[in-house]
Amino acid sequence: MDGLDVIVGEIAAEMAAAAERGKVADYIPDLASVSPRHFGIAVIMADGTCHVAGDADLAFSIQSITKVFTLTMALGAVGDALWKRVGREPSGSAFNSIVQLETEHGIPRNPFINAGAIVVADVLLARHQPGEVIAEFLRFMRTLAGDESIVIDHEVAQGEQRTGFRNMALANYMRAFGNVHHPTENTLGIYFHQCALAMSCRQLAQAGRFLMNGGRNPETGRSVVSAQRARRILALMLSCGHYDGSGEFAYRVGLPGKSGVGGGILAIAPGVASIAVWSPGLNERGNSQLGTLALERLVQRTGWSVFEPVVQCGV
Ligand code: DON
Repeated sequence: MDGLDVIVGEIAAEMAAAAERGKVADYIPDLASVSPRHFGIAVIMADGTCHVAGDADLAFSIQSITKVFTLTMALGAVGDALWKRVGREPSGSAFNSIVQLETEHGIPRNPFINAGAIVVADVLLARHQPGEVIAEFLRFMRTLAGDESIVIDHEVAQGEQRTGFRNMALANYMRAFGNVHHPTENTLGIYFHQCALAMSCRQLAQAGRFLMNGGRNPETGRSVVSAQRARRILALMLSCGHYDGSGEFAYRVGLPGKSGVGGGILAIAPGVASIAVWSPGLNERGNSQLGTLALERLVQRTGWSVFEPVVQCGV
């Protein structure tokens, strides 16, 4: 057992004993019944070693964490033209807020709030039928994670299709501004199915490796995105990945991260580690209560932070 195994084991034990676990999201029917007792953590290092504890191999609904990956796909498809339709600023509002869309003419603040991710889904739809986009997305995630067993939970997707009236409002509102180009049921079909992707912490940390590794998948050696694009995606994760809790997350954890209402968080220590945590109880901003605490303790004990002094700079 090495030092990091001890650290993740200790963190899992501390999280198992935590009294204040947050509140499980209940507005998506299938998420309401998930136990707040779960906690999992997976840390994959740049050399490929993997350190796990708790429920690291239990699949959960990764929800908004998928927005990192659909953004990656959309940038691959249309490049910087994407930024004509989506901004790159923190919203300071809840993830499902509609208020800024009116004054900002249907252009969402960033690709990680729901409105922004719906536009990203609409961009992916420009070249393909809905079923092909979902299949391509699933292929992309399986390749990044190196795991063919990953699936979309169709019941979760159907639950959101039945009850996702806010997302329907966002999509229709943006369609009125001309920023959603396809029938909203098709665009939302992509969005709801991507959000319903089920992955374990281990699989999610594996899928994040290209962001730790300058855009390259360390397993295949293939470039997923350029090093510059990887840096920029990380910048968006840091500034917008936790919605109106992004400043607090940067303050406490100091790593780019993306949360989902299923209780997962993907965090990246560039050049060092790809980390996934999961605990379903959420704080008042919709981010995992214990996931955030676990990451805070991990960085305290390892010293990982993008705000550490740069000791080796290549110039
Ligand atoms: O659209 C929704 O509301 C969910 N499918 C995803 C929201 C989400 O994960 C926000 N995360 N904190």
